[in-house]
Amino acid sequence: MWKDWIRPFVRPLPQWSTIAVDPPQKAVTATLRWDGQWADVTRDHTVASLKPLAIATSVDAGEHPSIEYSDNATGKLLGVLRLAKATSIATEGASIAIYRVAGGGHRCLSWARRPWNAWLQNRAMRRGNNAHHDLMEPASVQQLMIAYLCPRPVILVSVGAPGHQNIFPMDLIGPLERSGLFSLALRSTNVSEPVMRNMRKVALSSMPATMKAVVYKLSEHHKQALQDWNLLPFPTRPSREFDLPAVAAALRIRELAIVHSETMGSHTFFLGRMASDEALAEGTQLHHTAGFHQAYRRRRDRPFAEA
Ligand SMILES: Cc1cc2nc3c(=O)[nH]c(=O)nc-3n(C[C@H](O)[C@H](O)[C@H](O)COP(=O)(O)O)c2cc1C
Repeated sequence: MWKDWIRPFVRPLPQWSTIAVDPPQKAVTATLRWDGQWADVTRDHTVASLKPLAIATSVDAGEHPSIEYSDNATGKLLGVLRLAKATSIATEGASIAIYRVAGGGHRCLSWARRPWNAWLQNRAMRRGNNAHHDLMEPASVQQLMIAYLCPRPVILVSVGAPGHQNIFPMDLIGPLERSGLFSLALRSTNVSEPVMRNMRKVALSSMPATMKAVVYKLSEHHKQALQDWNLLPFPTRPSREFDLPAVAAALRIRELAIVHSETMGSHTFFLGRMASDEALAEGTQLHHTAGFHQAYRRRRDRPFAEA
């Protein structure tokens, strides 16, 4: 059909694809490179803030490293982020390096289609009601999509304190493997942010891909606290040590004891240690990747399963 042929020229790819992936994802490797050295940071880098766009890792890679994302099946380079050292955080005997994203590019689309698709996406962002566009420059949103070449798992975060309870989705999360720490980057305007800083305890439910609709619905709790745990549309079970209501149907429930929090631009960057880890079920977890990554895989007849 001529319409299928013309579509890529007039319509942007979606910025994000929601996909169903067996955790932990094994499709993409992230390699940090600096001064002739390298380190596998697939499970040792995470987004620390959106504005400015910053990446955290427990590898100290000097002043100007880069992260390369490559496809594990073919070894092909999918995209690169160029970084500039901003600061470091010392806590619990570990040192976490924070890098600003200084530039980057991807190779998921043909060279001609890359700038055209980015232009179409930026135009759609300007016209639409887009949370990222309100916060970030278009170039930063494009760089954020590159960071999502490593598919990012989605969890629900449970927060509880006297007079305050909440549960909301997050994907700016991840292990910083070498340090043994785990990070969460939460918009500082989130209604539970002060409670998390105070209570220093959360439960993390790894969400099955089949629960995508309910996960997205709970995004409203970034702004409004939950009135009552009984109002949730799914059963909960208490987390092991902190007794926080977590998702009974979760693939895995972990508890994070927060050891450090600090404001980093638009976000609060939390670091913690796992206090418990319960593997409850096998199955695919809801993940996000860049729309151009899913388009790349679709063209090669191996798309991720859509959630
Ligand atoms: C699946 C999913 C994951 C999200 N992950 C995060 C996150 O890691 N950190 C965060 O601050 N907000 C996260 N959000 C919240 C949204 O990006 C957005 O900030 C929220 O819906 C409030 O919108 P606002 O920008 O209009 O305030 C997530 C939302 C969804 C649906």
